[in-house]
Amino acid sequence: MKQTIGILLSLLLVGTSWSQTEGEINKKVASLISRMTLEEKIGQLTLYTSGWDQTGPTLRSEYMEDVRSGRCGNLFNAHTAEYNRGLQKVAVEETRLGIPLLFGYDVIHGYKTIFPIPLAEACSWDMNLIEKSARLAAKEAAAAGLHWTFNPMVDISRDPRWGRIAEGAGEDPYLGGLIAAAKVKGHQGEELSDPSTLLACVKHFAAYGGAQAGRDYHTVDMSDRVLRETYLPPYKAAIDAGAATVMTAFNEVDGVPATGSKYLMEDILRKEWDFDGFIVTDYTAINEMVPHGYALDNQHAAELAINVGVDMDMQGAVYQNHLEKLVLEGKVSEDDINASVSRILKYKYKLGLFDDPYRYSDAEREKEVVFSKEMMDHSLEAGRKSIVLLKNISVNGKKLLPIDPTTKNIAIIGPLGNNKEDQLGTWHASGDVNKAITLFEALKTALPNANISYTEGCKTSGADQSGFKDALEAARKADIIIMAIGEDYRQSGEAASRSELGLPGKQQALLEAIHQLNKPIVSVVMAGRPLTIGWMEDNLSAIVYAWHLGTMAGPAIADVLLGAYNPSGKLVITFPRNVGQIPIYYSMKNTGRPFDANNKYTSKYLDVENTPLYPFGYGLSYTDFEYSNLRMSNKTLNGDGSINVNIQVKNTGALKGVETIQLYTQDLVGSVTRPVKELKDFRQIELSPGESKVVSFTITSDDLRFHTQNMEYKAEPGKFTLYIGGNSVDVLSADFEYKN
Ligand code: BGC
Repeated sequence: MKQTIGILLSLLLVGTSWSQTEGEINKKVASLISRMTLEEKIGQLTLYTSGWDQTGPTLRSEYMEDVRSGRCGNLFNAHTAEYNRGLQKVAVEETRLGIPLLFGYDVIHGYKTIFPIPLAEACSWDMNLIEKSARLAAKEAAAAGLHWTFNPMVDISRDPRWGRIAEGAGEDPYLGGLIAAAKVKGHQGEELSDPSTLLACVKHFAAYGGAQAGRDYHTVDMSDRVLRETYLPPYKAAIDAGAATVMTAFNEVDGVPATGSKYLMEDILRKEWDFDGFIVTDYTAINEMVPHGYALDNQHAAELAINVGVDMDMQGAVYQNHLEKLVLEGKVSEDDINASVSRILKYKYKLGLFDDPYRYSDAEREKEVVFSKEMMDHSLEAGRKSIVLLKNISVNGKKLLPIDPTTKNIAIIGPLGNNKEDQLGTWHASGDVNKAITLFEALKTALPNANISYTEGCKTSGADQSGFKDALEAARKADIIIMAIGEDYRQSGEAASRSELGLPGKQQALLEAIHQLNKPIVSVVMAGRPLTIGWMEDNLSAIVYAWHLGTMAGPAIADVLLGAYNPSGKLVITFPRNVGQIPIYYSMKNTGRPFDANNKYTSKYLDVENTPLYPFGYGLSYTDFEYSNLRMSNKTLNGDGSINVNIQVKNTGALKGVETIQLYTQDLVGSVTRPVKELKDFRQIELSPGESKVVSFTITSDDLRFHTQNMEYKAEPGKFTLYIGGNSVDVLSADFEYKN
């Protein structure tokens, strides 16, 4: 009887069509809220893990009871069409009002079919590709009962010690903003009412990537100017692209935990940026305001969070346990709770869940979509485009790469050469390890007539060298050795900060032992972050940076090694020579004593060069590109006008290739000092051997804006230099003046 009333009531309350206008939805939401008890309202502000996957400390296992009683309106880490259908049935049929559950999950770079980790994929500089990855991941996840992904993670980071650098788009705010927007569009599609879309959740607001010394969850302290110029732009870009939800960060900013920050949540997010979606906390982030030293106890923490407009409590149970009392005590207004509830319910309506709560749990669709050809093909394409060729020099007049397909004996050595799970990388959701194809498997398929051996050599951690003997033996028999080395999937991501960035375990010793044999070595580095690989740069003739590329990592790397795909990736993060150089990034300031090798009293180290190992924007191809004829339509940019900039790019090598042409500017004098270079635009072109193209850019005063001394966001008149090239260092330059 109770069930029937639940269904009838929900039908009565919500109408039937899911393509509804904003006004219609608002009316329905208001009507529903008017019938809800305070306890039911708080239930809608509560999000618990299903206990299936676990992504943090589990505080509650009674979540099913909470769902049944309407005290928990949202779940995460529950997935598959069948499982979620069962949970939804409880919410819809057994609760008083039959309000459907919202199911969230960390679909970061794929749900079952895994695409490259975000840091890798950003190296493609290909917004269509990135949007498509997000679209396809949504398609797969949505068929498996999910409505909401905790993605994109848009935290800028300039510290590769921080393990979560793997989840972001690197160091640059402009590129990070474009990528953030592409991902939101990909996840949310054209219309949220389309059941192949997911709500996006931009995270972690704000500045989580600025953790001191790269230690996860650590203090963030920066000037408002740096916050606004370097860290905030990607969140803003995601909001402008329509992101439905925002996740608060664990960290504090300027002494205030983000989850209790009026400045971040109210002043910036709601008021300046007009964000009208809902805000969810990170995992127990409200509770953590107690150890932060900002709240007395959980009740106080709940009060602080709700009063800055944080709508949903992830896993902390503080809203569930304390909000009712806070309302009774007059410390929290029920109107504010109603506003939060309405922001959440609005999306349940937009997704069409009140009309058909099971429309996302579709076992048939799930079967069709998961691991479909479309998914696997895309995993391969995204993998190829994410790989960055760092070095490929000629030895005895010949480059090692691409590998000659007639090579007879190939030895793959190293812990990453045949490991299905590690290549999936951090946060690989529900990625099926068995579907992953390793480098060893892929090379055997690609070169059926070659003798290809695989030897692990050592693990990614520990001091065991007993595998060296077999590895050396295999290497001795080989014409070419592929060292598949780097990090396993647990060595980057959340709670995976490192203080040393060399190859972990005994891999460096293994590499050096093999190198002693004086045989041709290609090193393929699979990792979740930049590693300090100076020894490789000094001693090897070919280095491929392959990150963690997902399900089709093996075939993608094999295609690059064999030349079936000409590498095109460009670094989105500066590679340091050693840990002591961190933070090192391309958009540094000049200082009052810029580096001068002949003057001791200039800004430098005694024991390492000032330059990075590999700069931002860097990446080689099997062909060469020549830049010439940098031309500007005008040397003066007037007011609202524009300048046209042309550059000629020629493929001077023997293979067709893709080049990413990058445009940077430098504001020479400002009311505050400006970086030596700032990325403003880029183009990607494909050129056949001998072909050349003129590439055009337009510069307007919008490109020159920054936060001036009195924090106005505008361009200041004066002299500028622009730089164009294939990375942030090898550039052609020209000067211009801006007059307003
Ligand atoms: C992470 C978030 C993630 C959440 C839910 C947290 O530990 O910081 O990025 O979305 O767990 O799994």
